[in-house]
Amino acid sequence: MKVIKSLFSYLKIIFLYLTGKSVKAQDYKNEYNIVAPTYQNWLNRMKKYTDQIIRTDMIINKEGPLILDFACGTGYITDVLLKELPSKSVKIVAVDISDKMVEIAKSNITDKRCEFIVQDGNLFLQDESDEKYDAIYCGYALPYFNHKKVIKHFYRILKKGGTTHFILNCKGTLEGIHEIYINTMKKHPSEIAKILEISYQLPKDENDIRSWFENHSFQTLFTNTVEEFVSFNKAEDLYLWLKQTGALAGTGCFFTDNNEIEKEIIDEIVKKYYSQKSYIINHRFILAIFRK
Ligand SMILES: C[S@@+](CC[C@H](N)C(=O)[O-])C[C@H]1O[C@@H](n2cnc3c(N)ncnc32)[C@H](O)[C@@H]1O
Repeated sequence: MKVIKSLFSYLKIIFLYLTGKSVKAQDYKNEYNIVAPTYQNWLNRMKKYTDQIIRTDMIINKEGPLILDFACGTGYITDVLLKELPSKSVKIVAVDISDKMVEIAKSNITDKRCEFIVQDGNLFLQDESDEKYDAIYCGYALPYFNHKKVIKHFYRILKKGGTTHFILNCKGTLEGIHEIYINTMKKHPSEIAKILEISYQLPKDENDIRSWFENHSFQTLFTNTVEEFVSFNKAEDLYLWLKQTGALAGTGCFFTDNNEIEKEIIDEIVKKYYSQKSYIINHRFILAIFRK
């Protein structure tokens, strides 16, 4: 029975892939709209890493740069940039697909030097003109996009000498979570509704991301890998952390009956993550800055 279910799940995944039933931009929008009120929990923990890619000293035209905050979320990067760059001529365009994330950003940031746009980043990039921006920032969002297309656009819309600053998850982050979802899919093939391609969008390591950008003629200025371990007393709290911070964004669309499946996921977390009287999960990131 187990083998048959497993085989059925693979066939279902292939079918969903061929028929384009994967998690799409609109699904991420819906999930980040739910995450928005609790996203600050993520920032409280991770902003110390985001701060390392701000590096305004590397930006050209410091007196009046035009900066893009791509997939800006609740605007943490924009906020730091506005504080670090006091010139009145600075202009920041901050774009995100989630209206609820942008609502929070707007309520926190009233500086007139910033313009917020609610739009799918893919569509936004298509309409941007060549050599427009002095710098582009992208925090924890590149894997939601086809990185080849995005890097190509970034190169096109950056001025010569312009910089692009990233922090993004890499392979090895949330160790074991991918397997939990795959195993749950094998047990419930008939309930699989959509598949997620994000884990295939993650760079393996710093060399990988360097080659992504250098293949598009960027020059590498800086890369680093960091890892944060978060621990909880209860498995439910670990799961809640993953859900409320957006770390599992997209997975809410995997199954037709998500409530039932959630209980199983938590049971698997109980088995997998208990270590030294607590439940521990890792977040692994690459920080990187490139110049055109
Ligand atoms: C983890 S949050 C990062 C937010 C912010 N950059 C930061 O550093 O805190 C990821 C963001 O990517 C946005 N996002 C996902 N897909 C997108 C798309 N297709 N277009 C624009 N934004 C998108 C989400 O709405 C969410 O706000």
